Amino acid sequence: MSRHPFHPSDHEADVSRRRLLRLGAAGAVAGLAAGCAAPGAAQSADREAQAWAAANIPDQTGRRLLITGGNGYPREDRSGLGYQAALALVRKGADVTIASRDANKGAEAVRLIRAAVPGARVRFDTLDLTSLDQVKAYAARWRSSGERLDALINNAGVMGRRTRETTLGGHERVFATNVMGPFVLTSELMPLLRQGRAPRVVWVASGRIGRLALTDLQFERDYDYALAYDRSKLGVLLVAQEVQRRSEAAGWGVASMACHPGVARTFLVPDGPGMDSAEGFRQRALPMMFGPAARGALSHLYAGASTDARGGGYYGPAALIAGSPEEVEVPALARNEADAGRLWGALEGLCGTAFA
Ligand SMILES: NC(=O)c1ccc[n+]([C@@H]2O[C@H](COP(=O)([O-])OP(=O)(O)OC[C@H]3O[C@@H](n4cnc5c(N)ncnc54)[C@H](OP(=O)(O)O)[C@@H]3O)[C@@H](O)[C@H]2O)c1
Repeated sequence: MSRHPFHPSDHEADVSRRRLLRLGAAGAVAGLAAGCAAPGAAQSADREAQAWAAANIPDQTGRRLLITGGNGYPREDRSGLGYQAALALVRKGADVTIASRDANKGAEAVRLIRAAVPGARVRFDTLDLTSLDQVKAYAARWRSSGERLDALINNAGVMGRRTRETTLGGHERVFATNVMGPFVLTSELMPLLRQGRAPRVVWVASGRIGRLALTDLQFERDYDYALAYDRSKLGVLLVAQEVQRRSEAAGWGVASMACHPGVARTFLVPDGPGMDSAEGFRQRALPMMFGPAARGALSHLYAGASTDARGGGYYGPAALIAGSPEEVEVPALARNEADAGRLWGALEGLCGTAFA
């Protein structure tokens, strides 16, 4: 089987997944140890004192945010990262719009947030990121509404299903949802963001990334559900960095930053490859590795609201899969400006949009 140089071997991909699992186990062991061992107690107390939590979100009154992907489920603890981020921001006074595909789940998210926060300023809009025309029309409505937009959190995302799927526009579903849709949405909303207060765009990546196959962005060769996801998340990081560089060069005044949630218990796996996949097996076999969604969303919140977050920064849990959010290193693959430029050019062509 021939492989493009950007395509990691299955071995490489597997090694990165095994590394995550090891870190997960180590983190869980360290967490258990921190809870009961005397020698590390002082350090652990220090960390706790410095830990950034939802309570640290500055007052958001008067701030307007758009978060993609924010389903609500009757069992609130299963509602995903977008929902949890929206809830925490609304609690702090933000005016939040959640946009994702399913109107019923959106209505449930709004109902839950209103029930939890008296006077909540929250609404839901239907948006399918895989329909580029729909995304453009949606952004045009925002631009003509006269409403302000201070921050966009590109949270919505999918894992690959077992077999390759395409959107109505003929694009591979994971790349279309995780990279193309957010690219178009951000580009079309940029004029509005540029007029926002301390505006920022947050890109939700993953601790798992894979080498992009720039000559096979639509994964037409040797499709693999996990690799489709890992590659798309490198694409997200490359775009996040490139938007920051372009914003600085052109003086847009919009900070672009990325975050990842560690590993959280959400519907990402059940809605993706399913619970009987390798991912699902890990979720069942290592439940301590999959933390609550509200904890995973802290990285979104730090990037989206902390005054310490900066353009070009990347924020994630201190211990990769758990811990309070802090600035983490942008992986070397995501700092490759030549790849970012090539991906950017390909996206502009595929999506028929340009940032200005
Ligand atoms: N959970 C983790 O451990 C983890 C780890 C690393 C990164 N992440 C990232 O975190 C983000 C949130 O995921 P999650 O874990 O909260 O999973 P989730 O519960 O499955 O949420 C994903 C959200 O994306 C929305 N979505 C999917 N396709 C869409 C489309 N075509 N258009 C608009 N919205 C769409 C879904 O809405 P519908 O169901 O209505 O389509 C849902 O609200 C994703 O980008 C994911 O890759 C998660």
